[in-house]
Amino acid sequence: MIKVAVCGANGKMGKEVCQTVLDNPSTELVAKIDILGDDVFQTIEQAIKNTKIDVLVDFTQPKSIYENAKYCLNNGIKIVIGTTGLSDEQINELKDLSSKNGTGCLIAPNFSTGAVLMMMFAQKAAKYFDNAEIIEMHHNQKKDAPSGTAIKTALMMSEAKETFKTGNCPETETIKGARGGNSYSDIQIHSVRMPGFMASQEVLFGSNGQILKIRHDSTDRKCYMDGVMLAIEHVFAKNDFVYGLENLLK
Ligand SMILES: NC(=O)c1ccc[n+]([C@@H]2O[C@H](COP(=O)([O-])OP(=O)(O)OC[C@H]3O[C@@H](n4cnc5c(N)ncnc54)[C@H](O)[C@@H]3O)[C@@H](O)[C@H]2O)c1
Repeated sequence: MIKVAVCGANGKMGKEVCQTVLDNPSTELVAKIDILGDDVFQTIEQAIKNTKIDVLVDFTQPKSIYENAKYCLNNGIKIVIGTTGLSDEQINELKDLSSKNGTGCLIAPNFSTGAVLMMMFAQKAAKYFDNAEIIEMHHNQKKDAPSGTAIKTALMMSEAKETFKTGNCPETETIKGARGGNSYSDIQIHSVRMPGFMASQEVLFGSNGQILKIRHDSTDRKCYMDGVMLAIEHVFAKNDFVYGLENLLK
């Protein structure tokens, strides 16, 4: 049995992960950690003083995740990171720390298999189009923008093509931000935040006379759970560093 702790256990994702870990015969829920709530450890440090943890799953918030991850990797706890908002520099530092300490670390901006396939299809399509933009739509409680999924999608597309947006006329933005945020390979990302959405993303490709849209909608948080289980089993079995669930779906 894999001994799993969930950090952010009282949050929307954390609750779903706790239930999944409890329901799965290969995992045991050994600790719930959250800064809010009574039935939880307040910190990771408190949890490891009280119980043995093989893998910690973190769904907290952008401002906590870097310190949480460093703490785990420095204390021999393998970590699965769902929390978004890590910068490229922080991801690289966690990668170095994971290899230096030989402690597994998997970061996935999106654990939904459908969303990961959307990113993989977008990477494949990128080679064939000069114009591409991403629109991501999330619930209005999301703290970071653009979404980690949108950034990762742009990164994967940039591996297939160095620069997009060729052939556009000179543009003037009369309302700041109207053309979105400029990301890898000049891919514009547009973030929508409103009640009604959970997590959706559309990748648009255009060329003369045609538009290709690749869209994914998450309608229930259960869509992430197969990916989270896959990640827990992976970091438990292998002590490597992985950025993106697509690396496990190949
Ligand atoms: N990778 C994915 O597939 C995926 C999917 C959905 C959400 N997310 C990300 O997961 C994160 C959490 O999302 P959510 O919707 O569950 O948020 P949420 O606000 O519902 O839950 C976050 C929980 O973390 C707790 N928390 C905050 N800081 C903490 C800390 N330092 N230590 C312990 N607990 C702490 C909060 O009290 C809260 O209970 C966000 O970054 C979100 O973008 C990722």
